[in-house]
Amino acid sequence: MDKNKIIIFDTTLRDGEQSPGASMNTEEKIQIALQLERLGVDIIESGFAAASPGDFDAIKQIASEVHTIKVASLARAIERDIEAAGKAIAPAKNRRIHTFIATSPIHMEHKLKMKSDEVLKRAVQAVKYARTFVDDVEFSFEDAGRSDIEFLKEMSDAVISAGASTINLPDTVGFRLPGELYTRTKALVDFVGDRAIISAHNHNDLGLAVANTLECVRAGARQVECTINGLGERAGNAALEEIVMVINTRKDIFGDLYTDIVTKEIYPTSRLVASITGIEPQPNKAIVGKNAFAHESGIHQDGMLKCAQTYEIISAESIGAAKTNLVLGKHSGRHAFKDRLKELGFELENDELDKAFADFKALCDMKKEIFDEDLRALVNSEIAKVEQIYSIEKLSVQASKDGHTSAAITILHENELKEEASLGNGSADAIFKVIDRISGHEGELKDYKVRAVSQGKDALAKVDVKVKFGERTMIGHGLDVDTMLATAKAYISALNSFLSMK
Ligand code: KIV
Ligand code: ZN
Repeated sequence: MDKNKIIIFDTTLRDGEQSPGASMNTEEKIQIALQLERLGVDIIESGFAAASPGDFDAIKQIASEVHTIKVASLARAIERDIEAAGKAIAPAKNRRIHTFIATSPIHMEHKLKMKSDEVLKRAVQAVKYARTFVDDVEFSFEDAGRSDIEFLKEMSDAVISAGASTINLPDTVGFRLPGELYTRTKALVDFVGDRAIISAHNHNDLGLAVANTLECVRAGARQVECTINGLGERAGNAALEEIVMVINTRKDIFGDLYTDIVTKEIYPTSRLVASITGIEPQPNKAIVGKNAFAHESGIHQDGMLKCAQTYEIISAESIGAAKTNLVLGKHSGRHAFKDRLKELGFELENDELDKAFADFKALCDMKKEIFDEDLRALVNSEIAKVEQIYSIEKLSVQASKDGHTSAAITILHENELKEEASLGNGSADAIFKVIDRISGHEGELKDYKVRAVSQGKDALAKVDVKVKFGERTMIGHGLDVDTMLATAKAYISALNSFLSMK
């Protein structure tokens, strides 16, 4: 093993998906997995196979579609979970089972209601059973951040002897400070030596996830678990892009340590994840925020023009975020379109390319200037399209100041055209009501977000909705130059996801 290599373990599709509102459909997960492969990630945690049949299938499909990247599934330290994980990742060339149990006094007493010797026994059984499916087993001590160090050493000894080759030390509740994690990680690195790789997994509850992860690396951790855009439960996980760019930028501190991340793929990956989940990084987010490379003040702009390094320690180009502005237009051909998409990280062939090109031409008729962001949104929405059980043929909305807003819709369902109209409290409400009426499925709107994809009054609108149908909450996306049409498309796509899952 190369002692200087930092293994990047991306958990956007598992811990990231646990972010409120970030659930993704299988097609979307596959897109992200393929992009993570282009980004140069070593291992993707593709989900939690035992969580539901949908999660199991998504992991299995990801495992079949990726090329060489290692695919992991999470599993509690119980046979049923481990078996599901082993079966779901089976189609992948490179596989790992990631199993875990909590080791902190508070979790053992209140959550597991188990004594420490029972926890240890369960962990050993889990690793042995996981090894019957794969050669590569990672064991996590949940809430390691608040666990007793001597107990973690005892647990490490036991799970390594049982066949685990990676020991993960999650700061599950984001409690520790960087200095503390340095000391704790170093104690385990020294204790374990060459017998296993020590891994860092830090949550961001106190805003320290990245700083903590970097201290773990300095202490000898050689795997880091992270997510794109820092997505994750509560305040999120450590952000992949920040960890990688710190290691690359501060060679004076990190010396020969390196990752295999292709930094030019960072920005395309961040945009893909934001566009699929509908969760935009804050504008001032390090590395991938909208303002991360914007210099507003006159003094800064003057300095930048004289010598970029006066105010810039990394360049937008290095993460693949160079501004290209106006890219293509009405007269651009299929070839130029394909090349531009390739530069943006999309390798489309045949059918997918034909569809995306047709959408692009239709967009050119509606919008004079087409920007990179428009192309990204267009292609993402084409790739991640769910089965079109209902599709919109016509929509007309009459907005009115006197409270009589109405929407009329024609939809295609099972080769039949259906028409309906409804009043509503505003245009969006009228649209949701008319779709409920025509489909016979009443949805409860949980979240509604509208965003202009690029610039100008005629910018494409991207709408993301979260809608509850029965017991299930579905995400839907809609894209159109017309905001109300994008709203209807988003709501219909949530409905289609729900129906195709059923
Ligand atoms: O934060 C955590 O403890 C986890 C483990 C399940 C690895 O995500
Ligand atoms: Zn976690």
